[in-house]
Amino acid sequence: MLHTGGISVSLLDTTTTSPGALTASAIALDERHTAHNYSPLPVVAASAQGAWITDVEGRRYLDCLSAYSAVNFGHRNPEITATAHAQLGRVTLVSRAFHAEALGHFCAALAALCAKEMVLPMNSGAEAVESALKVARKWGTDVKGVPAGQANIIVADNNFHGRTISIVSFSSDQTARRGFGPFTPGFRSVPFGDADALAEAIDEHTVAVLLEPIQGEAGVIVPPDDYLRAVRELCGARGVLMIADEIQSGLARTGRTFACDHWNVVPDIYLLGKALGGGVVPLSAVVANRDVLGVLHPGEHGSTFGGNPFAAAIGSTVVSMLARGEFQARAAHLGTRLHRRLRTLIGHGVLAVRGKGLWAGVDIDPALGSAKQLSLRLAERGVLVKDTQESTMRIAPPLVITPAEIDWAVERFADTLAQMAH
Ligand SMILES: Cc1ncc(COP(=O)(O)O)c(C=O)c1O
Repeated sequence: MLHTGGISVSLLDTTTTSPGALTASAIALDERHTAHNYSPLPVVAASAQGAWITDVEGRRYLDCLSAYSAVNFGHRNPEITATAHAQLGRVTLVSRAFHAEALGHFCAALAALCAKEMVLPMNSGAEAVESALKVARKWGTDVKGVPAGQANIIVADNNFHGRTISIVSFSSDQTARRGFGPFTPGFRSVPFGDADALAEAIDEHTVAVLLEPIQGEAGVIVPPDDYLRAVRELCGARGVLMIADEIQSGLARTGRTFACDHWNVVPDIYLLGKALGGGVVPLSAVVANRDVLGVLHPGEHGSTFGGNPFAAAIGSTVVSMLARGEFQARAAHLGTRLHRRLRTLIGHGVLAVRGKGLWAGVDIDPALGSAKQLSLRLAERGVLVKDTQESTMRIAPPLVITPAEIDWAVERFADTLAQMAH
């Protein structure tokens, strides 16, 4: 059963109100003591349920961001919180110094979901990416026979894979890089969607190609239809690992378990995160066959919290929910509705709509203002979304959103654009 939070849209005639005293003081405290590495909307969450967030003043907002797809199954999904409560009553952390009952179950279930053999459990998405880069280099040295220190990895322009030094080393985003050098060598970037450019960039020392099957932060960019299959074939033919970063695109968001499934492509390595932790814990994973993940031996990689029993138990519940297929079906079905509605706004302040399932990148006519300005206006009207590029809005509601809530959000979107046009 899907839990939507049980709030009917008719109750929700949110109107513009100025921030209250509670909001102002919470923001002031945050700004004084929290590093300014984000630029949040002026909304202070106090609680959340299903697709809805309630702020400290008691105002309700329809969440159309889902913590960047970490809350795919809805806020405080009862199945997930029941597992969390039960596991809190058993054991939460022993480190990998010992075995934990919950970890083996989780890794077996996740490997089966991915039709792979092994799982390397980590915490954040960036950590999964870093871990895969290490695995690919080690595989290159131990299996492919690339001379030590000579491996290269190919990535796509405008990628987003996280924020560590190695990851920003191959970012095209100057804000993410400025001041953070020196950078990690060994990466080459080619245009996303261009298989010929990729073929040309591969040489005898290439160990992996790392891609988001649909680029999220770049603006929900869906590649040409033949691209991922061409990447798959190239990697196979040239003895290179294909790594699919499904941290944002995976786990039902696009209407399939993995975005790669839309093109019947199976990468050598899946990178998962965000929704894997059910919106409760950071939980990420590198998933691959034994011939790849088997290159890691004791002492070569690790994490104190990676694979902890609390996260593993939650991850097992998430995997069992995905194995039922209902969230994928819901995202596919409601995604068609969302995209159909959004496309009606083309020519009315919207220039283009991209994406798959309950995931859309909406290009706003820059003449109306920036996507950030639009997100501020929408927040005032009870819809939470976030800009991703200057003129692109990312829409990614929890998959428990209802058809009526989708319509309500798109109506607010249309009204706000009309308001900005005057
Ligand atoms: C595709 C992709 N990879 C990796 C990451 C990094 O994940 P995290 O923020 O958990 O480190 C993100 C985060 O947005 C992402 O979208």
